[in-house]
Amino acid sequence: MYYSDEIIEEVRSRNDIVDVIGSYVNLKKKGNSYSACCPFHHEKTPSFHVSRDKQMYHCFGCDAGGNVYTFLMEHENMTFPEALEALAERAGVKLPEKSMSPAAKQQNDLRTRIKEMNRLAAGYFHYLLKTERGKRALEYLKGRGLTDETITRFGLGYSDMYRDDLYKYLKNKGYKDEELKDSGLIRFDEKQGAADWFWNRVMYPIVDANNRVIGFGGRVMGDAKPKYINTQDTPIFDKSRNLYGLNYAKKSKRAGIIFCEGYMDVISMHQAGFDNAVASLGTALTPGQVNLVKRYTDRVYLAYDSDGAGTKAALRALEIFREFEIPARVISLKPYKDPDELIQAEGSDEFERRIEKAQSGIMFEIDILAGGYNQQDPQERTEFQKEAAKKLSVIADPLERNNYVESVARQYHIDSGFLKETVTQYGIAGSPHRTVFQLRESTGRRTEDLADSGLKTERLLLTWLINENSLFDALKGKISPDDFYEPVYHSIAEELFKQYEKEGKVMPAAILNHYQSKQEHDKAAFIMQQEFELEIAPEEKEKTITDLVRTVKERSILYQLDHAKGDLARTNELMLEKAQVQKLTISLKNK
Ligand code: CTP
Ligand code: MN
Repeated sequence: MYYSDEIIEEVRSRNDIVDVIGSYVNLKKKGNSYSACCPFHHEKTPSFHVSRDKQMYHCFGCDAGGNVYTFLMEHENMTFPEALEALAERAGVKLPEKSMSPAAKQQNDLRTRIKEMNRLAAGYFHYLLKTERGKRALEYLKGRGLTDETITRFGLGYSDMYRDDLYKYLKNKGYKDEELKDSGLIRFDEKQGAADWFWNRVMYPIVDANNRVIGFGGRVMGDAKPKYINTQDTPIFDKSRNLYGLNYAKKSKRAGIIFCEGYMDVISMHQAGFDNAVASLGTALTPGQVNLVKRYTDRVYLAYDSDGAGTKAALRALEIFREFEIPARVISLKPYKDPDELIQAEGSDEFERRIEKAQSGIMFEIDILAGGYNQQDPQERTEFQKEAAKKLSVIADPLERNNYVESVARQYHIDSGFLKETVTQYGIAGSPHRTVFQLRESTGRRTEDLADSGLKTERLLLTWLINENSLFDALKGKISPDDFYEPVYHSIAEELFKQYEKEGKVMPAAILNHYQSKQEHDKAAFIMQQEFELEIAPEEKEKTITDLVRTVKERSILYQLDHAKGDLARTNELMLEKAQVQKLTISLKNK
């Protein structure tokens, strides 16, 4: 099943994409690339392009794109290994016996064993909950209104008071200290030896979308701190790419997915019939999580806590959903603190009404914005209206934008004509970048507007790097792959920097080998396939690239600051770095 990266790359490079695709599709040469009517969707004028330089294809009509492997997978409905085998045969490459490298095998075995350990631990915690030892924990859960059925459905459990209860249990099952440590369930202390990561807590197993236990959250049964302890990241557990409750929510018949903040909120909502609820795992929402739900739904609801922290988290989440172009609505829980409280107090009918009344993300943002200004003061009122207009100007669809303008005008008693005019002005002027450069696809037909959104900035920087390899030298030491925040872009950046370091150039199509999920693949292909055309004077170039790097860098620092909460030393360090960003300049020697 598993082929090494080297063999995958060798087979790819020995199959010229123009020849391979040309045997299925009638390609016409056009400048540097070849075009045809797209084999993946119905069309009359060709928007399907194949590039020999990049060894990639892309359709500007339906966004299909990729390398030779993708083409066969999509066009011939092959799995990746099938495509690899077919192409190997075509090029006369002899494939090695199907086997993994020893290191890959070892890592794979470890992951398998960690999954087993987690499953065993979940079973053990659940068992304890039903025994005399777990009596208090069971009472606690019952006291919070959970039924036996819910407790079983979520596999809730109890971790015992002894410091090495689970350790002994797993040891007995034959696991070694080293792997127990890697599982995140047991920690090892120089003086005291092995100790359970969780003890005397109510346990919430965290299950991934494929129904595998990958970690736990553990809650104290009283007011002690910290309220929750979670599994740290392990080879199978990445907090930023999983969601609590998704295993059920993905199968829900209800419309959309509801995001809430806590484990208990999810459980309570599922019990009340809202089996489309999910929650992040003890951190703010991440792009990786949004990427994950994008496979299952086309709209989301936010049911975040109604306090200040919850509102802030909701605003941030809305920003991420916007970047992924997923429409989001916000459910008001007031006067209750969280969905669990609302449901306990008012029941599911009320929650259903709250969903119906959910506010669109943008109206919610404008509401919050309004709260920050004294509407009686003409100057503050003007400022508010300008800020609101700025937000509205970002809505791309003119009809939708107009509807929102009307709504906002009505709600805040603003003359709709004036508001419309202001929105239009912002739309034209936009961010300073907007007029300066545009990313143009090779046909030159559809241009993409590169307003200020952070993800677009990351994407643009990557495209620029791919098209102008000499930039790598200019950026050296100024920015690193870790500064890229969106998971796919981050991994592309890592590969690009690595390739450049090693080879002195980049090979976009080779990077695509790494993405086997269709979504990630398309996203990566999209970047690689962009042709780059700067509509700026050469002397503007340095300034533009400097701006881009600063934006990406600043976002990265803000993100890290968010995660360094409580760590003063780290926070200081980051604040210093942040101050440096404005001074950062990029110089292009041979522009
Ligand atoms: N959380 C955490 N560590 C903490 C506090 C909170 O990881 N010390 C995470 C947990 O995932 C928790 C979520 O943040 O579910 C929301 O926190 P909070 O609202 O305090 O908890 P609830 O889920 O509402 O839990 P409960 O109702 O049991 O108090
Ligand atoms: Mn709660």
